[in-house]
Amino acid sequence: FHVDWDIVTAEKAGFDHFMLKEIYEQPKAYRDTMGSRIDPSGKRIVMNELKMTDEYIHRIQQIHIVACGTAYHAGMVGKSIIEKLARIPVETDVASEYRYRSPIITPNTLVVVVSQSGETADTLAALREAKRCGARVVAITNVVGSSVAREADDVIVTWAGPEIAVASTKAYTSQLIAFYLFGLYLAQTLGTQDEAYIADVVTELKLLPDKVEQILQHAEIIKEWAEQISTHDNLFFIGRGIDYAVVLEGSLKLKEISYIHSEAYPSGELKHGTLALIEEGIPVIALATQPELFEKTVSNIKEVKARGAYVFGIHTLGETELVKAVDQVLEIPQTIPLLSPALSVVPLQLLAYYASLARGNDVDKPRNLAKSVTVE
Ligand code: G6P
Repeated sequence: FHVDWDIVTAEKAGFDHFMLKEIYEQPKAYRDTMGSRIDPSGKRIVMNELKMTDEYIHRIQQIHIVACGTAYHAGMVGKSIIEKLARIPVETDVASEYRYRSPIITPNTLVVVVSQSGETADTLAALREAKRCGARVVAITNVVGSSVAREADDVIVTWAGPEIAVASTKAYTSQLIAFYLFGLYLAQTLGTQDEAYIADVVTELKLLPDKVEQILQHAEIIKEWAEQISTHDNLFFIGRGIDYAVVLEGSLKLKEISYIHSEAYPSGELKHGTLALIEEGIPVIALATQPELFEKTVSNIKEVKARGAYVFGIHTLGETELVKAVDQVLEIPQTIPLLSPALSVVPLQLLAYYASLARGNDVDKPRNLAKSVTVE
């Protein structure tokens, strides 16, 4: 009697690759990361794991977010989240740069390090430098007991579960959820947002997992897009504001596993140089989820269309102007604009996955890359 079974196939739980499995695990990762951190009333955030006092939080003058790779991109969204909710100035830095630029760190600087593995050498070195300069350090990490978790003053664990694929997906989105929770917690402690607004954001936060599930039901559309772009060697992603931070991650994901060169650009900046690269048929992926930037994004889409680009637009339900401006469109569910990254990145993850597949690459183990980089 022979059963054709191996442990790796079993761990993939019916999915062809770990990456796809991990993309589909995101609704659960969101729910687990929110977990008991939302008060039963559904209106407030509780972060019992934080040892920092309210008195300390009132003293914070600036926040530095430091990370590498995908975690750095989560930190770019984190900057928008914290600045909007808590009104504290935030800078986000790549860990390998942070230490060497003599950052201005004071005892009133809170340093937030973000690391899925908690073992990235550059991030750990930045954490040590921050502590040496007297800053308090919060770690957002997926690994309880990792080096970063052990050395930080406070730890916010993302409950994404083990991530096996080299290209990070559910760890990134769980880091976004951690930033929403932490940003709301700071806002409620500082009184920078009224209670009703915080309750509204919390309500919308809890709806995100179901909305991710809705997006996953449209994976076939993204698969077709991926097959179309897989024959190209260059493409562009554009977005404004928080959408720009998300397209940076979309572009990184695509490069990592499909080996297609892409650049992510703030939509309004294209005409200051990169527009020269737009030629007939070049794919442009445009993300437009922010109502107050919408009109401007549509005019940037028209600029690239006029130069022959083929535009794939991802936007929030109900924005008809964009539908007219682009060649192909994917609508994602509505949410509060600040929360949209937790939805809009999902189609970009699927795009990278299916483009890698279409090119016959090893999706879970891309060439030259490692899951965790423990050298500087
Ligand atoms: C490696 C991985 C990336 C990851 C980065 C930071 O380069 O390939 O996917 O984003 O390290 O990893 P960390 O564990 O610190 O989040």
